[in-house]
Amino acid sequence: MLVKQGLIPAAGSGTRLGPFTNAIPKELLPVGDKAVIEHVVCAMQLAGIEEVVIVTSPQKHGLSDYFGSGKKFGVNITYVVQDERKGLGDAVLAGEHVIDGTFTVVLGDNFFAPKTFLKELIDFHIEQKGDTTVGVAEVMDVTRHGIITPNKNRILDMVEKPSPENAKSSLGALGAYVFSRDIFDAIKRTNPGHKGELQLTDSIKLQIDEGKNVLYKKIDGIHIDVGTPVDLMRANEWYLAHNGNDDCKKSP
Ligand code: G1P
Repeated sequence: MLVKQGLIPAAGSGTRLGPFTNAIPKELLPVGDKAVIEHVVCAMQLAGIEEVVIVTSPQKHGLSDYFGSGKKFGVNITYVVQDERKGLGDAVLAGEHVIDGTFTVVLGDNFFAPKTFLKELIDFHIEQKGDTTVGVAEVMDVTRHGIITPNKNRILDMVEKPSPENAKSSLGALGAYVFSRDIFDAIKRTNPGHKGELQLTDSIKLQIDEGKNVLYKKIDGIHIDVGTPVDLMRANEWYLAHNGNDDCKKSP
């Protein structure tokens, strides 16, 4: 099985990065010489992804201005609009009509290094015949992540942003996943949670309860959720200290 499609949720409002985000989508803020989302596109291209689906909001024209058809970045890019911000599950579901097989999802405002993390995640999913694989790491703040209960390489339970007292581990989802198309069906059967949003974590939990092969893989290296100005500076600091070396294909 080959994984040829990647979906990047990029419809969030980025209020914590205001006032920059009044003018610029947060995913287009720079980390070194690339927009944060270009690092994600690059990781996908290095993992063999040929078609990238960017889920954007009606206000965010800047994303298609930046990438165009994707040709310059070594991939084909399709844009899908999420009309209302109804959660990460809803953003993934917005891509259902253009996804035709197993696919990866990486959040467009998250910085990962080294970029080989995604190929490793996809290879693991294929080898282990997963229905869903969640990329995780030990996280400092469980209240910012989906937290898993692990058993060998399977996930027994997953809870979105638990309180520190209720967290069953400190292994948190980093915003990188591999899914079979079955996830769309699970999202459609998920009850909306807080603020009426469809949480992707709740759909994964539904798959676990239905006995699907839901796996996790630890992601090594650095991960920064670029949500605030300090996160953006930390990502830039790391990139500059490491000379920004990567192998992304980019034609002139
Ligand atoms: C989302 C997911 C959460 C995950 C996190 C990673 O939360 O819902 O499970 O751990 O991304 O960054 P958000 O950051 O959109 O609140």
